[in-house]
Amino acid sequence: MKALQIAGGRRLSGDISVSGAKNAALPALSASLLTTGRVVLHRIPNVVDIRTMSRLIENIGATVATDSGTCCIEAGNDLEPIAPYELVKTMRASSLVLGPLAARCGRARVSLPGGCAIGSRPIDMHLEGLRSLGATIRQDLGYIEAIAPKGGLTGGRISFRRPTVTGTEDMLMAAVLAKGESVLVNAAREPEVVDLANLLRKMGACIEGDGTSTIRVEGVDSLGGAEHSIIPDRIETGTYLIAGAMLGGELRIRDVLPDHLRPVIAKMKQAGSEIEIRDATTLVVRNNRPLVSVDVTTREHPGFPTDMQAQFMALMTQAGGVSNIVETVFENRFMHAPELRRMGANIDIDGNLAVVRGKTQLTGTDVMASDLRASACLVLAGLAAQGRTVVHRIYHLQRGYERLTEKLTGVGASIKIIDV
Ligand code: UD1
Repeated sequence: MKALQIAGGRRLSGDISVSGAKNAALPALSASLLTTGRVVLHRIPNVVDIRTMSRLIENIGATVATDSGTCCIEAGNDLEPIAPYELVKTMRASSLVLGPLAARCGRARVSLPGGCAIGSRPIDMHLEGLRSLGATIRQDLGYIEAIAPKGGLTGGRISFRRPTVTGTEDMLMAAVLAKGESVLVNAAREPEVVDLANLLRKMGACIEGDGTSTIRVEGVDSLGGAEHSIIPDRIETGTYLIAGAMLGGELRIRDVLPDHLRPVIAKMKQAGSEIEIRDATTLVVRNNRPLVSVDVTTREHPGFPTDMQAQFMALMTQAGGVSNIVETVFENRFMHAPELRRMGANIDIDGNLAVVRGKTQLTGTDVMASDLRASACLVLAGLAAQGRTVVHRIYHLQRGYERLTEKLTGVGASIKIIDV
């Protein structure tokens, strides 16, 4: 098994370049199933989840050619609209093929995802959405089957019980080929949804209102190929911002879109971090003064992202005072807290509230990663800790952070992959 070994306490200075957003690349790959045309996607991060999605769409019948961050996808006429358990079980975002396949092939058979570390994470809103577009939903043998009516999906009103990111993306991809107008109400406003809408528009789709909670789509008969560059990963950016706030001499984080980080930057500044927006694509962070504790509640965009909650908890262990961290998006997303406690943090959990009392000196030890962002939190804690930290189960990190060890080593960290 592979693990990450970190020798803590090194100051971090220099430049880190951020990769394309995994969570924007996943729906973009899936959107390529909507056309026989060639879809060329730049800035695709080389991480495990992307390789899983590529395998999934190849399994469906598309050809995928990848070369240094650029993916060329062609989904000809011979598609088998099935997402098997073997692939879905490793990545919940596989449900992103439901909408495009139901729209393009009139049928989609997708294995039901199982539970995962951060809660039960159902896909009921994806299914409800497809029903609103006229599909019939059946379930058998652990699979969900969506079947469009004879003439294909028809436009409709999809009202989400709560904003869902992949649910909104999935329904957007279904609606673009449905007959007539669709309205997505209480839609997710995340930048990744907007990036998908931008790609779909380049492919010929008619979409308005993405980035707001009401999205209108006028279905078209067919879509064509397109070329598109994926947005920078705002969660990777935020993770390195926190690394800089904990240990930065001067850490320059390049190829970013600072606007997508607004809620994170605001909270970090409130905690005393020195962050400068140097230009349209560069953020600079320094650790010049003692940090103070601040409270954080995770919310859908433009609120504080749940995908930054774990990393922010690591930061708060280094801030003076009491920080209340409330998780409202997922039901069970504090798995990193007991691991941080093993490193010396003072954290109490009560339901969806974590109370972090700082500042504590963290000390290195063996810790276990439970999900992608929890792993990032433990890496941050390890960078700040005294002595040696070994983060086990790093396959979680490899799902979503491209060249993490190289990027951190490049700015002075001592971090390497070891066999355990
Ligand atoms: C996406 C992101 C993930 C991020 C999350 C919230 C991708 C690939 N993943 O996940 O990194 O943490 O948004 O920002 O983009 N829910 C239901 N029924 C559904 C769908 C969701 O009850 O049909 C619930 C979920 O359990 C959760 C909440 O809605 O409590 C929001 O989840 P959602 O936005 O759908 O998360 P994902 O799209 O899976």
